[in-house]
Amino acid sequence: MTRFAVLISGKGSNLRAILDFWANPPIAYPAHLSAPVLVVSNRPGVPGLAVAEAAGVPAQVVDHTAFSSRAAFEEALDATLRRHEVQWLVLAGFMRLLSPEFVRRWAGRMLNTHPALLPAFPGPRGPADAVAAGVKVSGCTVHFVDEGMDTGAIIAQAAVPVLDTDTAESLGSRIRRVEHRIYPKVVAKVLAGQFRVEGRVVHLEGGGP
Ligand code: GAR
Repeated sequence: MTRFAVLISGKGSNLRAILDFWANPPIAYPAHLSAPVLVVSNRPGVPGLAVAEAAGVPAQVVDHTAFSSRAAFEEALDATLRRHEVQWLVLAGFMRLLSPEFVRRWAGRMLNTHPALLPAFPGPRGPADAVAAGVKVSGCTVHFVDEGMDTGAIIAQAAVPVLDTDTAESLGSRIRRVEHRIYPKVVAKVLAGQFRVEGRVVHLEGGGP
């Protein structure tokens, strides 16, 4: 059984989608081979913590503002993860940049969902940047986390049309709905080992989600 933690910083709607999926996985997806054993937030009091508690998954806060350096924060985060014997990390709206040292420690075992079609619009404002650029299509990307900012190998993507009337908020919320549909499935497949990597190209068994 592969043990994974979900890292959050805010609302936790993707966390909720993951926990709902794990509560009732479709037969084609081997979610039973892994288990969400812990939720960690770097911000206290965020709604995502209540999402974890409602699902009965242990939730911990490692508040980055309580540490004097990124290294000290990450050491505490890593210690929490080790205490729970976590093997994989699933980032779901985790808005803290992780150092290359931390990323190397978890290399190949850390996934993220990003609200844009990478490599377009990396960084913390994916939907706002897409609206400002006037693109007609954006979407979401599930990728491995590497040492760069949203530069890891892409596992799955889904497109979302950008409307002339869109704001960052309206586009972001439509993108989130698509993330909720694809992220849990991709997490389930990857954690079950149903993928292979050839250079930059990740092949999911049975194709995309
Ligand atoms: C999601 O759209 C996720 O892709 C994004 O934050 C949102 C979190 O929503 N992540 C990033 O922008 C990371 N660069 P949630 O807390 O409701 O899951």
